[in-house]
Amino acid sequence: MLTAKRILLGVTGSIACYKAADLASKLRQAGADVDVILTRAALQFITPLTFQSVTGRRAYTDDDLWGQAGHVLHVGLAEAADVLIIAPATANTLAKLAHGVADNLLTVAALAAGGRQPPCPVLVAPALDGGMWANPATQANVETLRGRGITLIGPAEGHLASGLRGLGRMVEPAQLLGHVRLALSRTGPLAGKRVVVTAGGTQEPLDPVRVLTNRSSGRQGYALAQAALDRGAQVTLISAAAALAPPVGARLVQVGTAQEMREAVMAALPEADVLIMAAAVADFRPARTQEHKIKKTGSLPVIELARNPDILAQVAQRKTRGQWKGITVGFAAESQNLLDNAQAKLNAKKLDMIVANDISAPDAGFAVDTNRVTLLFADGRREQLPLMSKAEVAERVMEEVVDWLNTGSTGSTGSTDH
Ligand code: CTP
Repeated sequence: MLTAKRILLGVTGSIACYKAADLASKLRQAGADVDVILTRAALQFITPLTFQSVTGRRAYTDDDLWGQAGHVLHVGLAEAADVLIIAPATANTLAKLAHGVADNLLTVAALAAGGRQPPCPVLVAPALDGGMWANPATQANVETLRGRGITLIGPAEGHLASGLRGLGRMVEPAQLLGHVRLALSRTGPLAGKRVVVTAGGTQEPLDPVRVLTNRSSGRQGYALAQAALDRGAQVTLISAAAALAPPVGARLVQVGTAQEMREAVMAALPEADVLIMAAAVADFRPARTQEHKIKKTGSLPVIELARNPDILAQVAQRKTRGQWKGITVGFAAESQNLLDNAQAKLNAKKLDMIVANDISAPDAGFAVDTNRVTLLFADGRREQLPLMSKAEVAERVMEEVVDWLNTGSTGSTGSTDH
């Protein structure tokens, strides 16, 4: 979604400048055209050549402001930008932005971008030390900026350059990239829609240290949440996966067991337009959770199982009773009779679509970055997709969802393959 987007990256004088180079690189790798403006203080930490090397474009300094093209350069950069992000932003630059001071190329460009119609999204990632963030002057400036619709990202807590600990670190580049993505997406085709995605394998406790679980990594669900966010949706990600960084902008509900996931889904459902159940929900749980760790001495334990609720089946009941009218997408992970089993689940759970994946293939299914899936629709249509990344599978699924919400049926994109 960053392809051919113009990102204007302002870099001010902080040790976090080295991370700004990483951010510029990540933006470029995601397809964006990145223009960089460095302040004079930033030049003490890093050179324009660093940014030119990672962006493939020239980086600008105050010398350009006083050069021949200076009087139009700042306007051109500000007009062309789809997003302005200032990272790292020093306390000094925050103060200048709050008061409309325009005494260098970056603040002049920021002033031009902030007054544009329609407004250019402006994101600011502060990096400060000691008490600078807590200082009432900085806090007042931050409030002013927020009041003008500028997005403040961080600062994060942790080790500071001075050796102190506290609030002041610049948020990591991967997170900043997510914020840029979020800023670009808000007017997408799912704007105003609420999408609930479940992800990961539930964990059913046996005793305080052991769980019954499965091999699901949660990656496909997280990719779906990102694809929905990229189209402007409000996303609730109900996750049983603990190891993945949630996409920026998603409301994360962390759960453990299938019963917890069921409660979270049912709580989010009334407001939702779309439910995508990518989670691998454990069908069974230990009938009893032992209060203390099961010891290896003594007789071999026998684990009695109890049945877990089928979340999608319960959602189907609500649909049948007319209590919920949204779109449901299920997943079918199968090791045999892929399409027959998937079709049976599509029917039984009254789904609008099911994503069938053959987990016996080494390049598809659990714990790999790729998937080989067939989409089955309630109207009988089937579409077999080639080996794709999980992000690409998520894109395809979400394209169908967009079609559905716009036209009431799927199928205006992609080819049919019965
Ligand atoms: N699912 C669910 N609640 C469960 C089990 C599964 O909502 N207790 C959802 C999954 O998230 C998925 C779909 O139902 O979207 C199919 O899950 P899957 O595990 O493939 O099938 P099951 O219905 O559990 O049947 P089986 O395990 O016998 O294949």
